[in-house]
Amino acid sequence: MINNQRHLFQIPDDVHYFNCAYMSPLLNSAAIAGCEGINSKKHPWKIGASDFFSDSNRARQLFAGLINAGAQDIALIPSVSYGTAIAALNLPITRNEKILVLAEEFPSNIYAWRVKAKAQGASLKTVERPADNDWTGAILEALDEQVRVVVLPQTHWVDGVQINLQLVSDIIKRLNCALVLDLTQSLGVVSVDVQKLQPDFLICASYKWLLGPYSFGFLYAHPKHHHGLPLEQGWVNRPGAENFSRLIDYTDTLNPDASRFDVGERSNMQLLPIAISALEQIHAWQPAQIEETLSLYTNRLEQRLSEIGFKSCNRAYRSPHYLGVTYTQVLPEDLLQQLASKQIFISQRGEFLRIAPYLYNNQHDADVLIDALVEILR
Ligand SMILES: Cc1ncc(COP(=O)(O)O)c(C=O)c1O
Repeated sequence: MINNQRHLFQIPDDVHYFNCAYMSPLLNSAAIAGCEGINSKKHPWKIGASDFFSDSNRARQLFAGLINAGAQDIALIPSVSYGTAIAALNLPITRNEKILVLAEEFPSNIYAWRVKAKAQGASLKTVERPADNDWTGAILEALDEQVRVVVLPQTHWVDGVQINLQLVSDIIKRLNCALVLDLTQSLGVVSVDVQKLQPDFLICASYKWLLGPYSFGFLYAHPKHHHGLPLEQGWVNRPGAENFSRLIDYTDTLNPDASRFDVGERSNMQLLPIAISALEQIHAWQPAQIEETLSLYTNRLEQRLSEIGFKSCNRAYRSPHYLGVTYTQVLPEDLLQQLASKQIFISQRGEFLRIAPYLYNNQHDADVLIDALVEILR
């Protein structure tokens, strides 16, 4: 269990922020690292060729440590949609084959696959939300010999249901299907081991549960894709790039690892220090401890919400850090605005109210949220 960590963030006492699934606040330490990154550009004469590589490699290493991968398996990307585009470019799909996606998935996991399917004469097969919350069972039922690529989150961003990725992976690997994961809504909290899961690609934005900056994320590529096609023809991800005086010795060879997929200008000297600082803190806390702590917090909150008429999914399927709840009656249309006027911040996705706390949320936050809901819904 981790003690409350609010002192590491700049969150006023009267702000009750349950919206980490929308955007995490920056750690004070990460903000300082970011300011130092901005300031470094005031003195470009101090920025050397090695600075184009050192932070990038450190960030890869830290992210790899969260998923039991190696730094050479990690690319630096600006968004999930960028990562999905790389996966779609590199995974074969032919006429009449299918790409399996979940209903109400985040759009970055849909559009690239729609385009790919259309271009190949293939189609998307959508798994509908199961009434009993068992997404895992519904995914397994939807598999057939036409499905060649399976695109999944670990936590569904709308309802917070957790998918048993290991079970799904074990089965789809036997069917020789490719697996693409978007772990934006779980990584940093829930432990993941790519050696066991064996995804083809795993994508994660950094600005939510990795406490990192916006416009920054990570792509894991399985070693079998380390010779795949990048989206761009960059220069920094080729052998010899460290020698700036000889960049004119052009080479058609890309790095034989996941860095070949890096976005152009990936050596971002403002965003990388933020991402690194945040990842170091997550490693120091340890994801298993974060998960245990948030699980206890959401369990208590779920209990109190159920006492005032909110229904969450079956506990067996719920993510430890994330509550997607529905109400017994129709909710006021301006519920979120009313809460925001009391400095309480949650989200609504589809028919679900989404409550996503983090280590900065304390007992007082929970009390204020429950009292406000009781008052508004009276
Ligand atoms: C599951 C999931 N994936 C990805 C994203 C962000 O995608 P992108 O980086 O393409 O904007 C979000 C944002 O809410 C998300 O919830």
